[in-house]
Amino acid sequence: MTTVEPFTIRLAQPDDEPVIAGLVVEGFLDKFRSVFGGRMDQSMRIMEKWISLEHASGGVTSLVVEAGAPTEIVASVGVRTADSREDVLARGLWTTLRRNLGFLRASWAAALLSHPRYSGTSSEAYVERLVVAPQYQSHGLGRSLLHAAEALARDAGKDTVGLHVSGVNIPALKLYEDEGYTEDSRQRSLMTGYFLNIRDWLYLKKTL
Ligand SMILES: CC(C)(COP(=O)(O)OP(=O)(O)OC[C@H]1O[C@@H](n2cnc3c(N)ncnc32)[C@H](O)[C@@H]1OP(=O)(O)O)[C@@H](O)C(=O)NCCC(=O)NCCS
Repeated sequence: MTTVEPFTIRLAQPDDEPVIAGLVVEGFLDKFRSVFGGRMDQSMRIMEKWISLEHASGGVTSLVVEAGAPTEIVASVGVRTADSREDVLARGLWTTLRRNLGFLRASWAAALLSHPRYSGTSSEAYVERLVVAPQYQSHGLGRSLLHAAEALARDAGKDTVGLHVSGVNIPALKLYEDEGYTEDSRQRSLMTGYFLNIRDWLYLKKTL
């Protein structure tokens, strides 16, 4: 059995971006397989660029968990606590997709990745891409990271935390409900329903 104690939660550094990208691709493999298809080999590079853009222009801070011997990064989460430059993010993502996938596949990927849609408010922090490496799951790391993300939100003066979760992600839904998040709204997408098997995207919210 994998041992997680002791583990440390710290702010991510730019050097951590490739590892975070790897965790995200692994954690959401089913989704990314449908998005990238035969170009799955490009997914890490695209995700790394996306995370770096989020840090540079998206108002997002990431946290990582270090555990194991030798110590490695085994979990991560992103928290948006400041305004994002949506135009820079959108342009950067599109350029990265087009360079790595070609125009047609990039258009397809952009359409799928545009769900769920989110527009932030100044009093709310947004939690995204919470992920724990498979061999470290069910040891409390996801919950600990969520608590650390909420602490970041509090430090940034936010009143609420919001996040999206797919209606079929039972482990994540249970965690969020257990932590006091309640459904605020939901988006339904026939496109992601058909191609990703995710029809409903739930927007959950918690008052800090
Ligand atoms: C969702 C995820 C982050 C949970 O992380 P984790 O470290 O395994 O979760 P924890 O050990 O902290 O468990 C916290 C709670 O989550 C729920 N949970 C976690 N794994 C579960 C499972 N396999 N089945 C049902 N509930 C589960 C339980 O309520 C659990 O509380 P409990 O241990 O008291 O029963 C992890 O499963 C993951 O990385 N999944 C892939 C990526 C993903 O879907 N992220 C969420 C995006 S919205």
